[in-house]
Amino acid sequence: MYHLVCVNCEATYPADEILYNCKKCGHLLAVKYPLEEISVTRALWESRPLSVWRYRELLPVQVEPVTLQEGGTPLYHLQRLGEEMGLKHLYAKHEGMNPSGSFKDRGMTVGVSMALQLKKKSVACASTGNTSASLAIYAAKAGIPAVVLLPAGKVAVGKIAQALMHGAKVISIRGNFDRALEMVHDLCLSHGLYLLNSINPYRLEGQKTIGFEALDQLSEIPDRFVLPVGNAGNISAVYKGFLELQELDLMDRLPMMTGIQAEGSSPVVRAIREKLPEVIPEQHPETVATAIRIGAPVNAEKALTAIRMTGGLAESVTDAEILQMQRDLARKEGIGVEPASAASVAGVRKLVEQGMIERHERIVCVVTGHLLKDPDTVIKQCEPPTEINADLPSLLSALHL
Ligand code: F0G
Repeated sequence: MYHLVCVNCEATYPADEILYNCKKCGHLLAVKYPLEEISVTRALWESRPLSVWRYRELLPVQVEPVTLQEGGTPLYHLQRLGEEMGLKHLYAKHEGMNPSGSFKDRGMTVGVSMALQLKKKSVACASTGNTSASLAIYAAKAGIPAVVLLPAGKVAVGKIAQALMHGAKVISIRGNFDRALEMVHDLCLSHGLYLLNSINPYRLEGQKTIGFEALDQLSEIPDRFVLPVGNAGNISAVYKGFLELQELDLMDRLPMMTGIQAEGSSPVVRAIREKLPEVIPEQHPETVATAIRIGAPVNAEKALTAIRMTGGLAESVTDAEILQMQRDLARKEGIGVEPASAASVAGVRKLVEQGMIERHERIVCVVTGHLLKDPDTVIKQCEPPTEINADLPSLLSALHL
Protein backbone atom coordinates (compact mmCIF):
# COMPACT_ATOMS: atom_id res chain seq x y z
CA MET A 1 0.00 0.00 0.00
CA TYR A 2 1.27 3.46 -0.90
CA HIS A 3 1.38 6.55 1.32
CA LEU A 4 1.93 10.30 1.00
CA VAL A 5 5.32 11.84 1.65
CA CYS A 6 6.45 15.46 1.94
CA VAL A 7 8.95 16.34 -0.79
CA ASN A 8 10.79 18.63 1.66
CA CYS A 9 10.88 17.14 5.17
CA GLU A 10 9.87 13.56 4.21
CA ALA A 11 7.07 13.44 6.79
CA THR A 12 4.68 10.63 5.84
CA TYR A 13 0.89 10.50 5.88
CA PRO A 14 -1.61 7.72 5.27
CA ALA A 15 -2.99 7.39 1.74
CA ASP A 16 -6.54 8.19 2.78
CA GLU A 17 -5.74 11.43 4.60
CA ILE A 18 -7.07 14.31 2.54
CA LEU A 19 -4.11 16.65 2.43
CA TYR A 20 -2.67 19.05 -0.13
CA ASN A 21 0.37 20.26 1.83
CA CYS A 22 2.63 18.85 4.53
CA LYS A 23 1.19 19.55 8.00
CA LYS A 24 4.69 20.04 9.39
CA CYS A 25 6.40 22.31 6.86
CA GLY A 26 3.71 23.28 4.32
CA HIS A 27 5.59 21.88 1.30
CA LEU A 28 4.15 19.68 -1.45
CA LEU A 29 3.24 16.03 -1.08
CA ALA A 30 3.92 13.10 -3.38
CA VAL A 31 2.58 9.54 -3.59
CA LYS A 32 5.14 6.92 -2.60
CA TYR A 33 4.70 3.27 -3.58
CA PRO A 34 6.52 0.32 -2.01
CA LEU A 35 8.30 -0.28 -5.31
CA GLU A 36 10.26 -3.23 -3.95
CA GLU A 37 6.94 -5.07 -3.52
CA ILE A 38 5.56 -4.20 -6.96
CA SER A 39 6.27 -6.64 -9.73
CA VAL A 40 5.70 -5.34 -13.22
CA THR A 41 7.32 -6.19 -16.48
CA ARG A 42 7.29 -4.46 -19.84
CA ALA A 43 5.62 -7.58 -21.26
CA LEU A 44 2.70 -7.25 -18.85
CA TRP A 45 2.19 -3.60 -19.73
CA GLU A 46 2.56 -4.25 -23.44
CA SER A 47 -0.18 -6.88 -23.24
CA ARG A 48 -2.65 -4.08 -22.44
CA PRO A 49 -3.90 -1.25 -24.69
CA LEU A 50 -1.85 1.95 -24.68
CA SER A 51 -3.68 4.11 -22.15
CA VAL A 52 -3.36 5.64 -18.69
CA TRP A 53 -4.63 2.40 -17.18
CA ARG A 54 -1.97 0.23 -18.84
CA TYR A 55 0.21 1.35 -15.92
CA ARG A 56 -2.27 0.70 -13.11
CA GLU A 57 0.32 -0.92 -10.81
CA LEU A 58 1.85 2.56 -10.49
CA LEU A 59 -1.45 4.37 -9.94
CA PRO A 60 -3.24 4.87 -6.61
CA VAL A 61 -6.78 3.96 -7.68
CA GLN A 62 -8.32 0.88 -6.08
CA VAL A 63 -11.96 1.43 -7.03
CA GLU A 64 -13.44 1.00 -10.52
CA PRO A 65 -11.90 3.99 -12.36
CA VAL A 66 -13.97 6.84 -13.77
CA THR A 67 -12.67 6.62 -17.32
CA LEU A 68 -13.44 8.04 -20.76
CA GLN A 69 -10.59 6.12 -22.44
CA GLU A 70 -7.93 8.74 -21.95
CA GLY A 71 -4.31 8.41 -23.00
CA GLY A 72 -3.08 6.31 -25.91
CA THR A 73 -2.34 9.56 -27.75
CA PRO A 74 -0.25 9.59 -30.94
CA LEU A 75 3.49 10.17 -30.95
CA TYR A 76 4.32 11.86 -34.25
CA HIS A 77 7.72 12.06 -35.88
CA LEU A 78 8.13 15.73 -36.87
CA GLN A 79 9.95 15.01 -40.06
CA ARG A 80 9.63 18.31 -41.87
CA LEU A 81 10.12 20.61 -38.88
CA GLY A 82 12.90 18.40 -37.57
CA GLU A 83 14.71 18.61 -40.89
CA GLU A 84 14.42 22.41 -40.85
CA MET A 85 16.02 22.47 -37.41
CA GLY A 86 18.63 19.85 -38.31
CA LEU A 87 17.09 17.29 -35.92
CA LYS A 88 16.55 13.74 -37.14
CA HIS A 89 14.73 12.56 -34.06
CA LEU A 90 12.14 15.17 -33.12
CA TYR A 91 8.77 13.84 -31.91
CA ALA A 92 5.53 15.35 -30.62
CA LYS A 93 3.18 13.56 -28.25
CA HIS A 94 -0.22 15.00 -29.19
CA GLU A 95 -2.11 15.27 -25.92
CA GLY A 96 -4.82 17.25 -27.68
CA MET A 97 -6.15 13.84 -28.75
CA ASN A 98 -7.48 13.07 -25.27
CA PRO A 99 -11.27 13.03 -24.57
CA SER A 100 -11.52 16.70 -23.56
CA GLY A 101 -8.68 17.75 -25.87
CA SER A 102 -5.85 18.14 -23.37
CA PHE A 103 -3.40 16.17 -21.22
CA LYS A 104 -5.39 17.10 -18.13
CA ASP A 105 -7.62 14.07 -18.74
CA ARG A 106 -4.83 11.76 -17.59
CA GLY A 107 -4.77 13.49 -14.24
CA MET A 108 -8.52 13.81 -13.94
CA THR A 109 -9.38 10.18 -14.62
CA VAL A 110 -7.16 9.37 -11.64
CA GLY A 111 -8.16 12.42 -9.57
CA VAL A 112 -11.92 11.97 -9.91
CA SER A 113 -11.56 8.23 -9.30
CA MET A 114 -9.69 9.12 -6.10
CA ALA A 115 -12.49 11.53 -5.14
CA LEU A 116 -14.86 8.55 -5.20
CA GLN A 117 -12.35 6.28 -3.44
CA LEU A 118 -11.99 8.88 -0.68
CA LYS A 119 -15.80 9.22 -0.49
CA LYS A 120 -15.83 12.88 -1.52
CA LYS A 121 -19.16 14.20 -2.79
CA SER A 122 -18.01 17.15 -4.91
CA VAL A 123 -14.90 18.39 -6.71
CA ALA A 124 -13.39 21.77 -7.53
CA CYS A 125 -10.48 23.46 -9.28
CA ALA A 126 -9.11 26.79 -10.43
CA SER A 127 -8.09 26.83 -14.05
CA THR A 128 -6.70 28.68 -17.01
CA GLY A 129 -9.27 26.57 -18.89
CA ASN A 130 -8.18 23.02 -19.65
CA THR A 131 -8.27 21.72 -16.10
CA SER A 132 -11.84 23.01 -15.77
CA ALA A 133 -12.93 21.38 -19.04
CA SER A 134 -11.40 18.10 -17.98
CA LEU A 135 -12.80 18.20 -14.46
CA ALA A 136 -16.24 18.95 -15.91
CA ILE A 137 -16.24 15.86 -18.14
CA TYR A 138 -15.01 13.47 -15.45
CA ALA A 139 -17.39 14.88 -12.81
CA ALA A 140 -20.20 14.38 -15.33
CA LYS A 141 -19.09 10.79 -15.91
CA ALA A 142 -18.87 10.19 -12.14
CA GLY A 143 -22.21 11.89 -11.53
CA ILE A 144 -20.90 14.37 -8.96
CA PRO A 145 -21.01 18.20 -8.97
CA ALA A 146 -17.97 20.29 -9.97
CA VAL A 147 -17.12 23.92 -9.22
CA VAL A 148 -14.53 25.68 -11.38
CA LEU A 149 -12.95 29.12 -10.87
CA LEU A 150 -11.58 30.91 -13.92
CA PRO A 151 -9.74 34.22 -14.39
CA ALA A 152 -12.38 36.46 -16.02
CA GLY A 153 -11.68 37.35 -19.65
CA LYS A 154 -8.54 35.22 -19.89
CA VAL A 155 -9.83 31.77 -20.75
CA ALA A 156 -10.09 30.50 -24.34
CA VAL A 157 -13.68 30.12 -25.49
CA GLY A 158 -13.54 26.39 -26.32
CA LYS A 159 -12.55 25.57 -22.75
CA ILE A 160 -15.36 27.65 -21.23
CA ALA A 161 -17.79 26.03 -23.64
CA GLN A 162 -16.75 22.60 -22.39
CA ALA A 163 -16.98 23.45 -18.69
CA LEU A 164 -20.44 24.95 -19.22
CA MET A 165 -21.82 22.20 -21.47
CA HIS A 166 -20.67 19.38 -19.20
CA GLY A 167 -22.50 20.97 -16.30
CA ALA A 168 -19.84 22.43 -13.99
CA LYS A 169 -20.69 25.47 -11.89
CA VAL A 170 -18.47 28.02 -13.64
CA ILE A 171 -17.32 31.07 -11.66
CA SER A 172 -15.28 33.84 -13.30
CA ILE A 173 -13.24 35.85 -10.83
CA ARG A 174 -11.93 39.35 -11.34
CA GLY A 175 -8.36 38.30 -10.72
CA ASN A 176 -5.75 36.02 -12.28
CA PHE A 177 -5.26 32.25 -12.08
CA ASP A 178 -2.94 32.45 -9.08
CA ARG A 179 -5.65 34.21 -7.06
CA ALA A 180 -8.31 31.77 -8.29
CA LEU A 181 -6.17 28.90 -7.01
CA GLU A 182 -5.78 30.47 -3.58
CA MET A 183 -9.54 30.99 -3.39
CA VAL A 184 -10.50 27.48 -4.44
CA HIS A 185 -7.92 26.03 -2.07
CA ASP A 186 -9.51 27.96 0.82
CA LEU A 187 -12.98 26.87 -0.31
CA CYS A 188 -11.96 23.20 -0.39
CA LEU A 189 -10.33 23.35 3.04
CA SER A 190 -13.32 25.10 4.62
CA HIS A 191 -16.16 23.29 2.83
CA GLY A 192 -14.84 19.82 2.07
CA LEU A 193 -14.90 19.87 -1.74
CA TYR A 194 -12.11 17.74 -3.21
CA LEU A 195 -9.43 19.97 -4.74
CA LEU A 196 -8.25 18.72 -8.13
CA ASN A 197 -5.56 21.18 -9.09
CA SER A 198 -2.07 19.79 -9.56
CA ILE A 199 -1.31 20.51 -5.90
CA ASN A 200 -3.31 17.31 -5.40
CA PRO A 201 -0.65 14.57 -5.43
CA TYR A 202 -3.04 11.94 -6.81
CA ARG A 203 -3.91 13.92 -9.91
CA LEU A 204 -0.26 14.10 -10.92
CA GLU A 205 -0.04 10.32 -10.79
CA GLY A 206 -2.22 10.13 -13.90
CA GLN A 207 -0.13 12.68 -15.72
CA LYS A 208 3.12 10.77 -15.34
CA THR A 209 1.75 8.25 -17.86
CA ILE A 210 2.60 10.68 -20.70
CA GLY A 211 6.21 9.72 -20.12
CA PHE A 212 5.46 6.00 -19.81
CA GLU A 213 3.54 5.98 -23.08
CA ALA A 214 6.23 7.92 -24.94
CA LEU A 215 8.84 5.36 -23.85
CA ASP A 216 6.66 2.50 -25.00
CA GLN A 217 5.94 4.18 -28.34
CA LEU A 218 9.56 5.08 -29.04
CA SER A 219 10.83 1.73 -27.75
CA GLU A 220 13.79 3.59 -26.34
CA ILE A 221 14.62 6.29 -23.85
CA PRO A 222 14.55 9.79 -25.33
CA ASP A 223 17.50 12.04 -24.56
CA ARG A 224 15.26 14.99 -23.84
CA PHE A 225 11.65 15.46 -22.78
CA VAL A 226 10.25 18.94 -23.41
CA LEU A 227 7.08 20.37 -21.86
CA PRO A 228 5.34 23.73 -21.71
CA VAL A 229 5.32 24.88 -18.09
CA GLY A 230 2.54 26.76 -16.34
CA ASN A 231 1.74 25.54 -12.86
CA ALA A 232 4.65 23.12 -13.31
CA GLY A 233 2.65 20.01 -12.42
CA ASN A 234 3.13 18.13 -15.64
CA ILE A 235 6.92 18.31 -15.86
CA SER A 236 7.11 17.25 -12.20
CA ALA A 237 4.74 14.34 -12.78
CA VAL A 238 6.62 12.98 -15.79
CA TYR A 239 9.92 13.18 -13.91
CA LYS A 240 8.47 11.34 -10.92
CA GLY A 241 7.23 8.59 -13.21
CA PHE A 242 10.66 8.19 -14.77
CA LEU A 243 12.27 7.93 -11.33
CA GLU A 244 9.86 5.10 -10.49
CA LEU A 245 10.71 3.24 -13.69
CA GLN A 246 14.39 3.64 -12.89
CA GLU A 247 13.85 2.20 -9.43
CA LEU A 248 11.97 -0.71 -10.98
CA ASP A 249 14.90 -1.31 -13.37
CA LEU A 250 12.70 -0.56 -16.36
CA MET A 251 14.84 2.41 -17.36
CA ASP A 252 18.59 2.89 -16.98
CA ARG A 253 18.92 6.65 -17.54
CA LEU A 254 16.71 9.72 -17.35
CA PRO A 255 15.85 12.13 -20.17
CA MET A 256 16.91 15.74 -19.69
CA MET A 257 13.71 17.36 -18.47
CA THR A 258 13.26 20.65 -20.28
CA GLY A 259 10.62 23.25 -19.44
CA ILE A 260 9.45 26.03 -21.75
CA GLN A 261 7.53 29.08 -20.57
CA ALA A 262 6.07 32.14 -22.26
CA GLU A 263 8.35 35.14 -21.90
CA GLY A 264 5.72 37.21 -20.09
CA SER A 265 5.17 34.46 -17.58
CA SER A 266 8.44 32.71 -16.88
CA PRO A 267 9.34 32.47 -13.17
CA VAL A 268 10.71 28.92 -13.52
CA VAL A 269 13.04 29.93 -16.35
CA ARG A 270 14.31 32.81 -14.27
CA ALA A 271 14.95 30.58 -11.25
CA ILE A 272 16.96 28.14 -13.37
CA ARG A 273 18.87 30.88 -15.18
CA GLU A 274 19.74 32.75 -12.00
CA LYS A 275 20.29 29.57 -9.96
CA LEU A 276 17.71 30.64 -7.37
CA PRO A 277 16.73 28.18 -4.63
CA GLU A 278 13.05 28.85 -5.39
CA VAL A 279 10.94 30.80 -7.88
CA ILE A 280 10.09 34.44 -7.37
CA PRO A 281 6.40 34.79 -8.30
CA GLU A 282 5.52 37.19 -11.10
CA GLN A 283 2.72 39.55 -10.11
CA HIS A 284 1.38 40.28 -13.59
CA PRO A 285 1.94 37.30 -15.90
CA GLU A 286 0.87 37.93 -19.49
CA THR A 287 0.95 35.88 -22.68
CA VAL A 288 -1.18 34.94 -25.68
CA ALA A 289 -0.80 31.35 -24.43
CA THR A 290 -3.42 31.87 -21.72
CA ALA A 291 -3.16 28.23 -20.59
CA ILE A 292 0.28 29.00 -19.12
CA ARG A 293 -0.43 32.54 -17.94
CA ILE A 294 0.69 31.72 -14.39
CA GLY A 295 2.97 33.81 -12.17
CA ALA A 296 3.23 31.62 -9.06
CA PRO A 297 3.48 27.97 -10.14
CA VAL A 298 2.48 25.77 -7.20
CA ASN A 299 4.67 22.88 -8.28
CA ALA A 300 7.76 24.97 -8.93
CA GLU A 301 9.68 23.22 -6.17
CA LYS A 302 9.24 19.82 -7.85
CA ALA A 303 9.89 21.22 -11.33
CA LEU A 304 13.19 22.84 -10.37
CA THR A 305 14.33 19.50 -8.99
CA ALA A 306 13.27 17.70 -12.19
CA ILE A 307 15.20 20.10 -14.41
CA ARG A 308 18.29 20.30 -12.18
CA MET A 309 18.59 16.59 -11.38
CA THR A 310 18.45 15.58 -15.05
CA GLY A 311 20.76 18.27 -16.44
CA GLY A 312 17.79 19.70 -18.30
CA LEU A 313 17.09 23.22 -19.50
CA ALA A 314 14.50 25.95 -19.08
CA GLU A 315 13.86 28.56 -21.75
CA SER A 316 11.25 31.17 -22.53
CA VAL A 317 9.69 31.95 -25.91
CA THR A 318 7.93 35.10 -27.07
CA ASP A 319 4.29 35.19 -28.09
CA ALA A 320 5.44 35.69 -31.70
CA GLU A 321 7.61 32.55 -31.52
CA ILE A 322 4.73 30.59 -30.00
CA LEU A 323 2.28 31.64 -32.72
CA GLN A 324 4.80 31.01 -35.49
CA MET A 325 5.27 27.46 -34.19
CA GLN A 326 1.51 26.98 -33.86
CA ARG A 327 1.22 27.78 -37.59
CA ASP A 328 4.24 25.67 -38.50
CA LEU A 329 2.91 22.61 -36.66
CA ALA A 330 -0.45 23.12 -38.34
CA ARG A 331 0.83 23.69 -41.87
CA LYS A 332 4.02 21.66 -42.06
CA GLU A 333 3.04 18.68 -39.91
CA GLY A 334 -0.78 18.65 -39.88
CA ILE A 335 -0.82 18.92 -36.10
CA GLY A 336 -3.33 21.35 -34.62
CA VAL A 337 -2.47 22.59 -31.14
CA GLU A 338 -3.31 25.55 -28.94
CA PRO A 339 -0.66 28.24 -28.34
CA ALA A 340 0.67 26.92 -25.00
CA SER A 341 1.31 23.57 -26.62
CA ALA A 342 3.32 25.08 -29.44
CA ALA A 343 5.62 26.58 -26.79
CA SER A 344 7.43 23.25 -26.26
CA VAL A 345 8.44 22.90 -29.92
CA ALA A 346 9.14 26.64 -30.22
CA GLY A 347 11.47 26.24 -27.26
CA VAL A 348 13.32 23.42 -29.00
CA ARG A 349 13.78 25.56 -32.10
CA LYS A 350 15.23 28.35 -29.97
CA LEU A 351 17.53 26.07 -27.98
CA VAL A 352 18.86 24.48 -31.18
CA GLU A 353 19.58 27.92 -32.60
CA GLN A 354 21.41 28.81 -29.39
CA GLY A 355 23.48 25.63 -29.62
CA MET A 356 22.03 24.32 -26.36
CA ILE A 357 20.57 21.17 -27.93
CA GLU A 358 22.73 18.68 -29.79
CA ARG A 359 21.44 17.74 -33.21
CA HIS A 360 21.70 13.98 -32.65
CA GLU A 361 19.38 14.10 -29.61
CA ARG A 362 16.18 12.08 -29.55
CA ILE A 363 13.62 14.64 -28.38
CA VAL A 364 10.00 14.22 -27.30
CA CYS A 365 7.95 17.41 -27.10
CA VAL A 366 4.62 17.23 -25.33
CA VAL A 367 2.01 19.26 -27.19
CA THR A 368 -0.61 19.61 -24.53
CA GLY A 369 -3.91 20.82 -25.97
CA HIS A 370 -5.95 20.82 -29.19
CA LEU A 371 -6.16 23.67 -31.72
CA LEU A 372 -9.94 23.97 -31.26
CA LYS A 373 -9.55 24.95 -27.62
CA ASP A 374 -8.78 28.52 -28.65
CA PRO A 375 -10.41 29.26 -32.01
CA ASP A 376 -10.20 33.05 -31.51
CA THR A 377 -6.39 33.02 -31.52
CA VAL A 378 -6.47 30.85 -34.65
CA ILE A 379 -8.89 33.08 -36.56
CA LYS A 380 -6.90 36.20 -35.70
CA GLN A 381 -3.82 34.72 -37.39
CA CYS A 382 -5.48 33.55 -40.59
CA GLU A 383 -6.93 35.20 -43.69
CA PRO A 384 -10.73 35.06 -43.51
CA PRO A 385 -12.56 32.73 -45.93
CA THR A 386 -13.03 34.19 -49.40
CA GLU A 387 -16.75 34.80 -49.91
CA ILE A 388 -18.00 34.61 -53.49
CA ASN A 389 -21.22 34.49 -55.49
CA ALA A 390 -22.53 30.97 -55.96
CA ASP A 391 -21.39 30.50 -59.58
CA LEU A 392 -18.44 28.79 -61.28
CA PRO A 393 -16.82 31.88 -62.82
CA SER A 394 -16.62 33.49 -59.38
CA LEU A 395 -15.01 30.32 -58.03
CA LEU A 396 -12.44 30.21 -60.83
CA SER A 397 -11.67 33.85 -60.36
CA ALA A 398 -11.22 33.42 -56.62
CA LEU A 399 -8.78 30.57 -57.32
CA HIS A 400 -6.98 32.65 -59.99
CA LEU A 401 -7.77 29.99 -62.58
N1 F0G B 1 -0.35 23.37 -21.76
C1 F0G B 1 -1.67 23.53 -21.62
C2 F0G B 1 -2.52 23.47 -22.83
C3 F0G B 1 -2.22 23.75 -20.33
O1 F0G B 1 -3.53 23.91 -20.22
C4 F0G B 1 -1.36 23.83 -19.22
C5 F0G B 1 -1.89 24.09 -17.87
C6 F0G B 1 0.01 23.63 -19.42
C7 F0G B 1 0.48 23.41 -20.71
C8 F0G B 1 0.99 23.68 -18.31
O2 F0G B 1 0.94 22.56 -17.50
O3 F0G B 1 0.46 23.67 -15.36
O4 F0G B 1 1.25 21.32 -15.42
O5 F0G B 1 2.78 23.18 -15.99
N2 F0G B 1 -3.09 24.40 -17.64
C9 F0G B 1 -3.69 24.52 -16.31
C10 F0G B 1 -5.18 24.67 -16.42
C11 F0G B 1 -3.03 25.49 -15.43
O6 F0G B 1 -5.81 25.25 -15.52
O7 F0G B 1 -5.76 24.20 -17.39
P1 F0G B 1 1.39 22.67 -15.97
